[in-house]
Amino acid sequence: MRSLFDITKIGTLPMRNRFIRAAVSDTTFDGFIDEAMIANYTAIAGGGVGAIVTGMTLVDGEEKIFPVVALCSDSFVPGHRKLAEAVHRYDVRLIAQLAYIGSYTTVGDNSWIVALAPSSVPNIVTGAPAREMRLGEIKLVQKRFADAAARAREAGYDGVELHCAHGLLLSQFLTPHYNRRADEYGGPIENRSRMIIETYTQIRSAAGYDFPVWVKLNCDDGIENGITEEDFLYVCGLLSRAGADAIEVSGNWTPHIFKAGPYFLAPAASAAADNSVPTILTGGNRRVSAMHEILNETKIEFFGIARSFAREPSLIDRFRRECENLAAGGENFRKSSSF
Ligand SMILES: Cc1cc2nc3c(=O)[nH]c(=O)nc-3n(C[C@H](O)[C@H](O)[C@H](O)COP(=O)(O)O)c2cc1C
Repeated sequence: MRSLFDITKIGTLPMRNRFIRAAVSDTTFDGFIDEAMIANYTAIAGGGVGAIVTGMTLVDGEEKIFPVVALCSDSFVPGHRKLAEAVHRYDVRLIAQLAYIGSYTTVGDNSWIVALAPSSVPNIVTGAPAREMRLGEIKLVQKRFADAAARAREAGYDGVELHCAHGLLLSQFLTPHYNRRADEYGGPIENRSRMIIETYTQIRSAAGYDFPVWVKLNCDDGIENGITEEDFLYVCGLLSRAGADAIEVSGNWTPHIFKAGPYFLAPAASAAADNSVPTILTGGNRRVSAMHEILNETKIEFFGIARSFAREPSLIDRFRRECENLAAGGENFRKSSSF
Protein backbone atom coordinates (compact mmCIF):
# COMPACT_ATOMS: atom_id res chain seq x y z
CA MET A 1 0.00 0.00 0.00
CA ARG A 2 1.30 3.47 -0.88
CA SER A 3 1.44 6.12 1.82
CA LEU A 4 1.05 9.89 1.54
CA PHE A 5 4.25 10.12 3.55
CA ASP A 6 6.37 7.80 1.42
CA ILE A 7 9.87 9.13 0.86
CA THR A 8 9.79 9.27 -2.89
CA LYS A 9 10.78 11.20 -6.00
CA ILE A 10 9.17 13.34 -8.67
CA GLY A 11 11.31 12.54 -11.67
CA THR A 12 14.81 12.89 -10.26
CA LEU A 13 13.78 15.11 -7.38
CA PRO A 14 13.76 13.57 -3.87
CA MET A 15 10.54 14.29 -1.96
CA ARG A 16 9.89 13.79 1.75
CA ASN A 17 6.19 13.18 1.08
CA ARG A 18 3.53 13.52 -1.63
CA PHE A 19 2.24 17.01 -0.77
CA ILE A 20 2.92 20.10 -2.83
CA ARG A 21 1.90 23.65 -2.04
CA ALA A 22 0.33 24.62 -5.38
CA ALA A 23 1.11 28.06 -6.77
CA VAL A 24 -0.43 31.10 -5.09
CA SER A 25 0.55 34.40 -6.67
CA ASP A 26 2.65 36.78 -4.57
CA THR A 27 1.81 40.44 -4.88
CA THR A 28 4.64 42.91 -5.31
CA PHE A 29 4.60 46.19 -7.13
CA ASP A 30 8.15 46.06 -8.48
CA GLY A 31 8.50 42.34 -9.28
CA PHE A 32 11.08 41.73 -6.52
CA ILE A 33 10.79 39.21 -3.71
CA ASP A 34 10.37 40.84 -0.30
CA GLU A 35 10.85 39.77 3.32
CA ALA A 36 7.13 39.13 3.90
CA MET A 37 7.17 36.63 1.04
CA ILE A 38 10.20 34.86 2.42
CA ALA A 39 8.54 34.68 5.86
CA ASN A 40 5.39 33.15 4.30
CA TYR A 41 7.33 30.49 2.36
CA THR A 42 9.45 29.73 5.42
CA ALA A 43 6.33 29.12 7.52
CA ILE A 44 4.94 26.69 4.91
CA ALA A 45 8.30 24.94 4.45
CA GLY A 46 8.57 24.55 8.24
CA GLY A 47 5.11 22.96 8.33
CA GLY A 48 6.11 19.72 6.65
CA VAL A 49 5.24 20.09 2.96
CA GLY A 50 7.31 18.19 0.35
CA ALA A 51 7.63 20.91 -2.28
CA ILE A 52 6.44 24.45 -2.88
CA VAL A 53 5.56 25.85 -6.29
CA THR A 54 5.99 29.63 -6.24
CA GLY A 55 3.28 31.99 -7.39
CA MET A 56 3.32 32.82 -11.08
CA THR A 57 6.58 34.51 -11.97
CA LEU A 58 6.78 36.78 -15.00
CA VAL A 59 9.23 35.86 -17.71
CA ASP A 60 8.83 39.03 -19.76
CA GLY A 61 9.63 42.51 -18.47
CA GLU A 62 7.48 44.06 -21.17
CA GLU A 63 4.49 42.57 -19.46
CA LYS A 64 4.15 45.30 -16.84
CA ILE A 65 0.46 44.67 -16.46
CA PHE A 66 0.20 42.52 -13.37
CA PRO A 67 1.85 43.11 -10.01
CA VAL A 68 3.52 39.75 -9.40
CA VAL A 69 7.06 38.46 -8.93
CA ALA A 70 9.40 38.40 -11.96
CA LEU A 71 12.46 36.57 -13.24
CA CYS A 72 12.70 38.54 -16.46
CA SER A 73 16.24 39.85 -15.92
CA ASP A 74 19.35 38.97 -13.93
CA SER A 75 18.61 41.71 -11.38
CA PHE A 76 15.82 39.53 -9.95
CA VAL A 77 18.08 36.52 -9.29
CA PRO A 78 19.50 37.50 -5.84
CA GLY A 79 16.00 37.77 -4.31
CA HIS A 80 15.05 34.35 -5.67
CA ARG A 81 18.31 32.90 -4.36
CA LYS A 82 17.45 34.17 -0.87
CA LEU A 83 14.03 32.54 -1.11
CA ALA A 84 15.51 29.22 -2.29
CA GLU A 85 18.03 29.21 0.55
CA ALA A 86 15.30 29.89 3.13
CA VAL A 87 13.09 27.04 1.85
CA HIS A 88 15.97 24.56 1.44
CA ARG A 89 16.84 24.89 5.14
CA TYR A 90 13.75 22.73 5.73
CA ASP A 91 14.62 20.07 3.15
CA VAL A 92 11.71 21.25 1.01
CA ARG A 93 11.94 21.46 -2.80
CA LEU A 94 11.21 24.81 -4.44
CA ILE A 95 9.86 25.08 -7.99
CA ALA A 96 9.57 28.42 -9.82
CA GLN A 97 6.31 28.75 -11.70
CA LEU A 98 7.04 30.60 -14.95
CA ALA A 99 4.23 32.54 -16.57
CA TYR A 100 3.27 34.88 -19.33
CA ILE A 101 -0.10 36.30 -18.36
CA GLY A 102 -1.35 37.97 -21.54
CA SER A 103 -4.97 39.09 -21.49
CA TYR A 104 -5.63 37.47 -18.10
CA THR A 105 -4.53 40.64 -16.39
CA THR A 106 -6.48 41.79 -13.37
CA VAL A 107 -5.31 45.40 -13.47
CA GLY A 108 -8.48 47.38 -12.60
CA ASP A 109 -9.46 49.39 -15.67
CA ASN A 110 -7.54 47.58 -18.35
CA SER A 111 -9.09 49.24 -21.34
CA TRP A 112 -5.63 50.65 -22.21
CA ILE A 113 -4.05 47.21 -22.41
CA VAL A 114 -3.77 45.32 -25.67
CA ALA A 115 -2.25 42.04 -24.53
CA LEU A 116 -0.58 39.45 -26.74
CA ALA A 117 -2.69 36.36 -27.38
CA PRO A 118 -2.96 33.49 -29.87
CA SER A 119 -5.73 35.42 -31.66
CA SER A 120 -7.41 38.81 -31.30
CA VAL A 121 -10.11 37.59 -28.93
CA PRO A 122 -10.95 39.67 -25.81
CA ASN A 123 -10.52 37.87 -22.51
CA ILE A 124 -13.79 36.41 -21.21
CA VAL A 125 -12.88 36.96 -17.55
CA THR A 126 -11.07 40.31 -17.57
CA GLY A 127 -12.51 41.89 -20.70
CA ALA A 128 -8.99 42.91 -21.76
CA PRO A 129 -8.58 43.27 -25.52
CA ALA A 130 -5.92 41.12 -27.17
CA ARG A 131 -3.83 41.12 -30.33
CA GLU A 132 -2.84 38.03 -32.31
CA MET A 133 0.87 37.29 -31.87
CA ARG A 134 3.15 37.46 -34.89
CA LEU A 135 5.49 34.52 -35.46
CA GLY A 136 8.47 36.58 -34.25
CA GLU A 137 6.62 37.36 -31.00
CA ILE A 138 5.88 33.67 -30.47
CA LYS A 139 9.59 32.86 -30.76
CA LEU A 140 10.49 35.77 -28.48
CA VAL A 141 8.09 34.68 -25.73
CA GLN A 142 9.51 31.13 -25.95
CA LYS A 143 12.99 32.57 -25.49
CA ARG A 144 11.82 34.61 -22.50
CA PHE A 145 10.60 31.39 -20.85
CA ALA A 146 13.91 29.66 -21.60
CA ASP A 147 15.98 32.56 -20.22
CA ALA A 148 13.87 32.72 -17.06
CA ALA A 149 14.31 28.96 -16.54
CA ALA A 150 18.09 29.35 -16.79
CA ARG A 151 17.89 32.15 -14.18
CA ALA A 152 15.76 29.91 -11.94
CA ARG A 153 18.49 27.30 -12.04
CA GLU A 154 21.13 29.92 -11.26
CA ALA A 155 19.05 31.13 -8.30
CA GLY A 156 19.04 27.62 -6.80
CA TYR A 157 15.52 26.45 -7.61
CA ASP A 158 14.98 22.69 -7.87
CA GLY A 159 13.03 23.06 -11.10
CA VAL A 160 10.48 25.13 -12.93
CA GLU A 161 6.82 24.71 -13.63
CA LEU A 162 5.46 25.95 -16.94
CA HIS A 163 2.11 27.64 -16.26
CA CYS A 164 -0.12 26.35 -19.06
CA ALA A 165 -3.38 26.62 -17.12
CA HIS A 166 -6.11 29.03 -15.96
CA GLY A 167 -6.44 31.04 -19.17
CA LEU A 168 -2.93 32.49 -19.19
CA LEU A 169 -1.17 32.86 -22.54
CA LEU A 170 0.14 29.28 -22.94
CA SER A 171 -3.17 27.84 -21.86
CA GLN A 172 -4.99 30.03 -24.42
CA PHE A 173 -3.02 28.37 -27.22
CA LEU A 174 -4.75 25.07 -26.34
CA THR A 175 -8.22 26.59 -26.13
CA PRO A 176 -10.22 26.75 -29.39
CA HIS A 177 -12.15 29.80 -28.15
CA TYR A 178 -8.93 31.81 -27.84
CA ASN A 179 -6.83 30.17 -30.55
CA ARG A 180 -8.32 30.83 -33.99
CA ARG A 181 -5.02 30.93 -35.85
CA ALA A 182 -4.75 29.67 -39.39
CA ASP A 183 -1.01 28.88 -39.21
CA GLU A 184 0.93 25.98 -37.67
CA TYR A 185 0.02 27.15 -34.11
CA GLY A 186 -3.77 26.90 -34.64
CA GLY A 187 -6.41 24.44 -35.79
CA PRO A 188 -6.08 20.79 -34.69
CA ILE A 189 -4.64 19.95 -31.27
CA GLU A 190 -1.38 18.84 -32.94
CA ASN A 191 -0.95 22.53 -33.88
CA ARG A 192 -2.49 24.15 -30.80
CA SER A 193 -0.06 22.23 -28.56
CA ARG A 194 2.97 23.39 -30.60
CA MET A 195 3.53 26.57 -28.54
CA ILE A 196 3.76 24.59 -25.28
CA ILE A 197 5.97 21.83 -26.67
CA GLU A 198 8.37 24.29 -28.32
CA THR A 199 8.56 26.36 -25.12
CA TYR A 200 9.21 23.20 -23.10
CA THR A 201 11.98 22.15 -25.52
CA GLN A 202 13.62 25.58 -25.36
CA ILE A 203 13.59 25.48 -21.56
CA ARG A 204 15.29 22.09 -21.64
CA SER A 205 18.11 23.32 -23.83
CA ALA A 206 18.57 26.63 -21.93
CA ALA A 207 18.40 25.31 -18.35
CA GLY A 208 19.98 21.89 -18.92
CA TYR A 209 18.38 18.52 -19.63
CA ASP A 210 18.79 17.46 -15.99
CA PHE A 211 16.87 20.47 -14.63
CA PRO A 212 13.33 19.37 -13.66
CA VAL A 213 10.46 20.81 -15.68
CA TRP A 214 6.87 20.42 -14.51
CA VAL A 215 3.81 21.56 -16.46
CA LYS A 216 0.49 22.78 -15.03
CA LEU A 217 -2.33 22.06 -17.48
CA ASN A 218 -6.05 22.68 -17.67
CA CYS A 219 -8.16 19.56 -18.11
CA ASP A 220 -11.25 21.78 -18.33
CA ASP A 221 -11.34 25.50 -19.21
CA GLY A 222 -14.87 25.90 -17.88
CA ILE A 223 -15.90 27.92 -20.96
CA GLU A 224 -17.76 27.17 -24.15
CA ASN A 225 -15.41 25.95 -26.86
CA GLY A 226 -12.73 25.21 -24.27
CA ILE A 227 -10.23 22.33 -24.22
CA THR A 228 -11.80 18.86 -24.42
CA GLU A 229 -10.71 15.98 -22.20
CA GLU A 230 -9.45 14.20 -25.30
CA ASP A 231 -7.22 17.16 -26.21
CA PHE A 232 -6.00 17.43 -22.62
CA LEU A 233 -5.02 13.74 -22.65
CA TYR A 234 -3.31 14.20 -26.02
CA VAL A 235 -1.13 17.01 -24.57
CA CYS A 236 -0.34 14.92 -21.47
CA GLY A 237 0.86 12.14 -23.80
CA LEU A 238 3.07 14.55 -25.74
CA LEU A 239 4.62 15.93 -22.56
CA SER A 240 5.11 12.49 -21.09
CA ARG A 241 6.93 11.29 -24.20
CA ALA A 242 8.96 14.52 -24.26
CA GLY A 243 10.24 13.67 -20.76
CA ALA A 244 8.41 16.21 -18.58
CA ASP A 245 9.11 15.54 -14.88
CA ALA A 246 5.52 16.05 -13.74
CA ILE A 247 2.11 17.18 -14.92
CA GLU A 248 -0.03 19.13 -12.47
CA VAL A 249 -3.69 18.74 -13.42
CA SER A 250 -5.83 21.80 -12.85
CA GLY A 251 -8.59 23.63 -14.66
CA ASN A 252 -11.01 26.47 -14.14
CA TRP A 253 -11.34 25.97 -10.40
CA THR A 254 -13.32 29.10 -9.58
CA PRO A 255 -16.81 27.53 -10.03
CA HIS A 256 -15.76 24.88 -7.49
CA ILE A 257 -14.37 27.16 -4.76
CA PHE A 258 -16.77 25.99 -2.08
CA LYS A 259 -16.40 22.29 -2.88
CA ALA A 260 -14.31 20.10 -0.64
CA GLY A 261 -13.41 17.28 -2.94
CA PRO A 262 -10.99 16.86 -5.82
CA TYR A 263 -13.08 18.12 -8.73
CA PHE A 264 -10.50 17.25 -11.42
CA LEU A 265 -10.03 13.69 -10.20
CA ALA A 266 -11.46 11.82 -13.22
CA PRO A 267 -9.35 13.48 -15.96
CA ALA A 268 -6.26 13.44 -13.71
CA ALA A 269 -6.73 9.72 -13.07
CA SER A 270 -7.02 9.09 -16.83
CA ALA A 271 -3.85 11.10 -17.50
CA ALA A 272 -2.00 9.15 -14.81
CA ALA A 273 -3.25 5.81 -16.15
CA ASP A 274 -2.22 6.59 -19.73
CA ASN A 275 1.26 7.97 -19.10
CA SER A 276 4.46 7.34 -17.21
CA VAL A 277 4.88 10.98 -16.11
CA PRO A 278 4.11 11.60 -12.40
CA THR A 279 0.69 13.25 -12.01
CA ILE A 280 -0.13 15.91 -9.43
CA LEU A 281 -3.83 16.36 -8.69
CA THR A 282 -4.70 19.91 -7.61
CA GLY A 283 -7.94 21.52 -6.52
CA GLY A 284 -10.19 20.70 -3.56
CA ASN A 285 -7.80 18.32 -1.79
CA ARG A 286 -8.88 18.66 1.82
CA ARG A 287 -9.16 15.23 3.42
CA VAL A 288 -6.34 12.83 4.13
CA SER A 289 -8.70 9.86 3.85
CA ALA A 290 -9.74 10.88 0.30
CA MET A 291 -6.14 11.44 -0.83
CA HIS A 292 -5.05 8.14 0.69
CA GLU A 293 -7.77 6.36 -1.27
CA ILE A 294 -6.91 8.14 -4.54
CA LEU A 295 -3.24 7.30 -4.07
CA ASN A 296 -4.05 3.62 -3.73
CA GLU A 297 -6.87 3.31 -6.26
CA THR A 298 -5.42 5.38 -9.14
CA LYS A 299 -1.97 6.10 -10.49
CA ILE A 300 -2.05 9.67 -9.18
CA GLU A 301 1.02 10.05 -6.97
CA PHE A 302 1.06 13.64 -5.70
CA PHE A 303 -1.38 16.20 -4.32
CA GLY A 304 -1.32 19.97 -4.87
CA ILE A 305 -2.99 22.16 -2.26
CA ALA A 306 -3.20 25.95 -2.39
CA ARG A 307 -5.74 27.84 -0.29
CA SER A 308 -5.60 25.71 2.88
CA PHE A 309 -2.02 26.85 3.54
CA ALA A 310 -3.16 30.46 3.90
CA ARG A 311 -4.89 29.73 7.18
CA GLU A 312 -2.75 26.77 8.23
CA PRO A 313 0.91 26.85 7.10
CA SER A 314 1.64 23.69 9.09
CA LEU A 315 -1.19 21.76 7.42
CA ILE A 316 1.03 18.84 6.42
CA ASP A 317 2.23 18.29 10.00
CA ARG A 318 -1.44 17.88 10.96
CA PHE A 319 -1.95 15.51 8.00
CA ARG A 320 0.97 13.45 9.26
CA ARG A 321 -0.70 13.08 12.67
CA GLU A 322 -3.95 12.12 10.97
CA CYS A 323 -2.16 9.48 8.91
CA GLU A 324 -0.59 8.06 12.06
CA ASN A 325 -4.08 7.82 13.55
CA LEU A 326 -5.26 6.08 10.41
CA ALA A 327 -2.49 3.54 10.72
CA ALA A 328 -3.31 3.14 14.43
CA GLY A 329 -6.90 2.12 13.85
CA GLY A 330 -8.98 4.54 11.91
CA GLU A 331 -11.55 5.86 14.41
CA ASN A 332 -9.56 8.94 15.49
CA PHE A 333 -8.64 9.52 11.88
CA ARG A 334 -12.27 9.73 10.80
CA LYS A 335 -13.04 12.27 13.52
CA SER A 336 -10.07 14.50 12.88
CA SER A 337 -10.38 14.63 9.10
CA SER A 338 -14.00 15.64 8.98
CA PHE A 339 -13.61 19.32 8.05
C1 LIG B 1 -5.05 33.79 -4.23
C2 LIG B 1 -4.74 32.71 -5.23
C3 LIG B 1 -3.69 32.88 -6.10
C4 LIG B 1 -3.39 31.88 -7.04
N1 LIG B 1 -2.31 32.03 -7.84
C5 LIG B 1 -1.97 31.05 -8.71
C6 LIG B 1 -0.81 31.14 -9.50
O1 LIG B 1 -0.03 32.10 -9.40
N2 LIG B 1 -0.55 30.13 -10.36
C7 LIG B 1 -1.36 29.02 -10.48
O2 LIG B 1 -1.07 28.13 -11.26
N3 LIG B 1 -2.44 28.90 -9.71
C8 LIG B 1 -2.76 29.87 -8.83
N4 LIG B 1 -3.84 29.70 -8.02
C9 LIG B 1 -4.65 28.45 -8.12
C10 LIG B 1 -4.13 27.38 -7.17
O3 LIG B 1 -2.82 26.96 -7.47
C11 LIG B 1 -5.04 26.14 -7.19
O4 LIG B 1 -5.02 25.62 -8.50
C12 LIG B 1 -6.47 26.46 -6.76
O5 LIG B 1 -6.47 27.35 -5.65
C13 LIG B 1 -7.22 25.20 -6.38
O6 LIG B 1 -6.56 24.51 -5.33
P1 LIG B 1 -7.10 24.58 -3.79
O7 LIG B 1 -8.51 24.03 -3.82
O8 LIG B 1 -6.19 23.69 -3.00
O9 LIG B 1 -7.06 26.00 -3.34
C14 LIG B 1 -4.16 30.69 -7.08
C15 LIG B 1 -5.22 30.53 -6.18
C16 LIG B 1 -5.51 31.51 -5.26
C17 LIG B 1 -6.64 31.30 -4.27
